[in-house]
Amino acid sequence: MTYDLTDKTAIVTGGASGIGRRTAQRFGAEGANVVVADVMADEGAETVEQIESAGGSALFVETDVTDPDDVEAMVREAVETYGGLDIAHNNAGIEGDDAPMAEQTEENWTRVIGINLKGVWLGMKHELQEMADDGGGAIVNTSSIAGLTAAGATPYVASKHGVIGLTRVAATEYAQAGVRVNAVCPGVIETPMVEQAAEENPEEIEQFVQMQPLGRMGQPEEIANAVVWLASEEASFVTGNAYPVDGGFMAL
Ligand code: NAI
Repeated sequence: MTYDLTDKTAIVTGGASGIGRRTAQRFGAEGANVVVADVMADEGAETVEQIESAGGSALFVETDVTDPDDVEAMVREAVETYGGLDIAHNNAGIEGDDAPMAEQTEENWTRVIGINLKGVWLGMKHELQEMADDGGGAIVNTSSIAGLTAAGATPYVASKHGVIGLTRVAATEYAQAGVRVNAVCPGVIETPMVEQAAEENPEEIEQFVQMQPLGRMGQPEEIANAVVWLASEEASFVTGNAYPVDGGFMAL
């Protein structure tokens, strides 16, 4: 399936790795100008090279999504370089420390909520304004099956539930301005984040995989497929929703 995103400009946070990298590549392949935003500069530049060597157009902007100045600059660079902003995938995220609620530290709470929740809000704060001022756009936030269930540690689950709340508020407040806002809720996807978790706790990851009726991990490509659809005109009547892409996890 291909979607025509020619002349559109798309920001992808967390675009240096995993799901974000794959989505950035897909946006590029569909004709969009892609702004790859991440704290990892070398890997972000590598995503840009991959997009360019496939014939696309991309730019890396070093961005810490918890830093208001960085996030403002990320949106400004997209607009100044490509003349506008049409699509944003607010995807940067971390898993944080795995421990029962009573053993969680405030430091881990602050770090996970800062990146996964405040980062998405800060991104939307600037993206929504730009899109609303310029005729509309589409935003896709990365939540998780941990945004819909208790499948994860306290700060991660709280942050991912929060992302769905932010998605719903933005969708209702900016619908009349022509901005659609949705979330994807991936199941267990084979990315560096999960590879690291599997090294630390192989049984737990295997248990989650077995809870996905399709019986395997998803691939970043399979999340990118949903994100590109939600960002495209093919999803023109879709807003304010959170879509599991989870091998059937939510059906059990
Ligand atoms: P990943 O670790 O491969 O990629 C995450 C990216 O976010 C990295 O490039 C990292 O440098 C970037 N990042 C982290 N902190 C940042 C910050 N402060 N500012 C800017 N960028 C930052 O992980 P993956 O799996 O691709 O995760 C992407 C998103 O998908 C995350 O929000 C994660 O919570 C979510 N997710 C992943 C699942 C999985 O099974 N892999 C399942 C459900 C949700």
